[in-house]
Amino acid sequence: MKLTPFSFEKPADRPFFFTSFVSTIDGKIIVKEKGYWPIGTEKDKEYFTFLRAHADAIVDAKNTAVRFAKYFIRRIHEDMYQEFRKDLRKPPLPEYIVLTSNPDEELHNALKNDHGFETTILTPEDGSKRVSIQHLIDYLNKKGHTKVFIDGGPTLIAQLLEAEVLDEIHLTIAPKIFGSLPDKTLTMVEGILFPPDKVPQFKLLSVEKLDDEVVLRYSLPRLTDRS
Ligand SMILES: NC(=O)c1ccc[n+]([C@@H]2O[C@H](COP(=O)([O-])OP(=O)(O)OC[C@H]3O[C@@H](n4cnc5c(N)ncnc54)[C@H](OP(=O)(O)O)[C@@H]3O)[C@@H](O)[C@H]2O)c1
Repeated sequence: MKLTPFSFEKPADRPFFFTSFVSTIDGKIIVKEKGYWPIGTEKDKEYFTFLRAHADAIVDAKNTAVRFAKYFIRRIHEDMYQEFRKDLRKPPLPEYIVLTSNPDEELHNALKNDHGFETTILTPEDGSKRVSIQHLIDYLNKKGHTKVFIDGGPTLIAQLLEAEVLDEIHLTIAPKIFGSLPDKTLTMVEGILFPPDKVPQFKLLSVEKLDDEVVLRYSLPRLTDRS
């Protein structure tokens, strides 16, 4: 597959935030039962591995880290990711950051690896339940990160949308339909229902066809560009 580097324009006061999700036609990004993962194809994997290779840092909320950190840490040490990093003239590894109020054994087990790779765990300050998006931005600014990939999951995406700082979404639609039963599936954004006058509106930047899948690249117009 021919992949062209993405250009991202960093806002003045914070890093550029981007994410990618793979969803079924009926909007499901995960089923909380075995047998449904992976949702996308190898081509989708190559696309999102390339996209992630642009990032100085990658951020996960706890549940996504518990489920995927082992694969993630393995994948960033594999040849595909390392080649992309070289092509993009990035240092071999990004900083990996996990947000949680409860850095328990389950999380530490998920982060254990044979590469000696260390994860940064950010926890809330002053008794609050969450790391605020501003605190995350302050941390990333301090570390000099300009491009930050938000891996997920849905509760973290909700917080970034609410703060109006999620600059780009790359959404792969897999040609599948999972259906749904209460509490069995998740969509890309959970834990919030935006009021009608606050519904985030994105602009379509491009459409990439990967055989039967399609990748939609959406950007959030900057506040100054909105009418
Ligand atoms: N299809 C896809 O492309 C895709 C992509 C990403 C994720 N996923 C899936 O999404 C699922 C997870 O989604 P989820 O909604 O259950 O969980 P999630 O968003 O990954 O994690 C939620 C948890 O993270 C912690 N957290 C979130 N924001 C925080 C903050 N600002 N500060 C501190 N802690 C914070 C909280 O737990 P504590 O307070 O207990 O720490 C919260 O309950 C996974 O199964 C993953 O596979 C799918």
